[in-house]
Amino acid sequence: MSTESTETAAPASGLGRQVARRRTFAIISHPDAGKTTLTEKLLLFGGAIQMAGTVKARKSGRYATSDWLEVEKQRGISVASSVMQFEYDDCVINLLDTPGHKDFSEDTYRVLTAVDAAVMVVDAAKGVEEQTIKLLEVCRLRHTPIITFINKLDREVREPLELLDEIESVLKINCAPVTWPIGMGKSFQGVYHLLDDSVLRFVPGEEKAGGDVEVLRGQAIHYLRERHPMEFERMDGEIELVRGAGATFHIDDFLEGYQTPVFFGSAINNFGVREILRALKAWAPPPQPREAYVSGTETRFVHPEEAPFTGFVFKIQANMDPNHRDRIAFFRVCSGKYSQGMKVRHRRTGKEIKVANAVVFMANERTRSEEAYAGDIIGIHNHGQLQIGDALTEGENLAFKGIPYFAPDLFCRARLRDPLKSKQLNKGLQELGEEGAIQVFTPMAAGMVLLGAVGQLQFEVVEHRLKTEYGVDAVFERADVHTARWVTCPDAVHLAEFVKANQVRLAHDVDDNVVYLSPNSVNLGLTMERWPKVVFHATREHGQKLAD
Ligand code: G4P
Repeated sequence: MSTESTETAAPASGLGRQVARRRTFAIISHPDAGKTTLTEKLLLFGGAIQMAGTVKARKSGRYATSDWLEVEKQRGISVASSVMQFEYDDCVINLLDTPGHKDFSEDTYRVLTAVDAAVMVVDAAKGVEEQTIKLLEVCRLRHTPIITFINKLDREVREPLELLDEIESVLKINCAPVTWPIGMGKSFQGVYHLLDDSVLRFVPGEEKAGGDVEVLRGQAIHYLRERHPMEFERMDGEIELVRGAGATFHIDDFLEGYQTPVFFGSAINNFGVREILRALKAWAPPPQPREAYVSGTETRFVHPEEAPFTGFVFKIQANMDPNHRDRIAFFRVCSGKYSQGMKVRHRRTGKEIKVANAVVFMANERTRSEEAYAGDIIGIHNHGQLQIGDALTEGENLAFKGIPYFAPDLFCRARLRDPLKSKQLNKGLQELGEEGAIQVFTPMAAGMVLLGAVGQLQFEVVEHRLKTEYGVDAVFERADVHTARWVTCPDAVHLAEFVKANQVRLAHDVDDNVVYLSPNSVNLGLTMERWPKVVFHATREHGQKLAD
């Protein structure tokens, strides 16, 4: 059951205004579509960096494991680039980075729980690609509004109509073009702004850092049209079709996640980037109310303007120095105001925590955060007490909904080269499990712990980190497990019978939930048939003990 909050907006002056000017979003794309380039250009236009190349230089090797590990060793790099806050036209923009490699998709899914909107980058030559499909599915779970940027129009790419058609049919989201390309590749002249009746002029090779793109209206468009009649004629025909199909922008459809405004551009040429910032400011929602459990299954919506501070941890990252086990918990503020040194209640343990040293991530440097509001992300240093999904509040006992764990697809056992190190191994796995680097399952029957991952690279990172941070040399061996399902059953007696009969295939996760580990899909199907009253879940929420 869910109840609307009865709390009134905070009397604290300025809280509502601070919330209204915040935009928190992530960029999603298939690798190579131009996410890093767009991120960099957004920061450039937002005045957060002075020079192109800053973000690019920090981009990790996306394909070679060794490169990635090398970069990850200098952990500060990825911590600092995870969240970037900057101001644009009186808006405070929080841009959350998502790992590009599909093996870290679980991390990406969690980041997407912390945003209010997303910018989807599509490579105009390639169209909708595999990773984009998956990421969009996750956005859809929360009805996250999506702004689409079709990139690389400075190249010979696919026809715009064909691209929109593909987005609509594959991603099941309606497109409302806001700009439309005039030519492409060598004959790319710019874009026509459908809502503004203007033309944004593209001048190839003119990399004007932060400068304004030339905007043509009336007669100036006419002159350009005379010079490039073919490109304009083509555009006229396409726009007629688009308008005829009724693809006009409706803010409500966008906010509900049914429709995406589409922009065409070329990130590397700074072209069309400012339109994205404008769209974020004008259309993307400010921090939204979030549903939280208040007791048992009862929930309420926590509104961002509520005066008491609340929020949740959506990502944990080991800190820069591997010799010190302190970690940074990435915390999304959901209501109230964070101020330095404030005391908060840690919902999972019931303890009070003093948050004295949080950092806010200003573009590429970390600075100490003095205050933060709903939508902002703060980094809280801790020594393992904070886990993904944990809520911190100014007293109220609540837990935010919707921070998912996904059933892993890959399973391994860690075998020690030095059997005397088993204590360190367990500690390492426990901590890395809490951090969300890997999922850890303890079999009910005797046996070694099982590790579950969504991507192979996760195992390699854990193996590497066990060695460097815990001094444990372990070999990871593939386990004979196909998939995992969290099990619950409203009938306790029935559940006990199920557990007794299936003990060898059952394990506990870090939160003590019962998990069924199936060796193949046939076995899972048969077991589900045999135990119809038992519910098998492919996802569960962080920090949430599953109710029977
Ligand atoms: P990603 O983060 O989504 O993986 O993509 P990234 O920004 O790294 O861009 C992937 C490649 O596409 C890069 O080329 C980048 O320069 C190029 N690119 C990005 N935007 C545009 C654009 O608007 N037009 C064109 N023509 N190319 C674009 P690269 O060769 O892989 O890297 P680099 O040598 O340029 O650094």
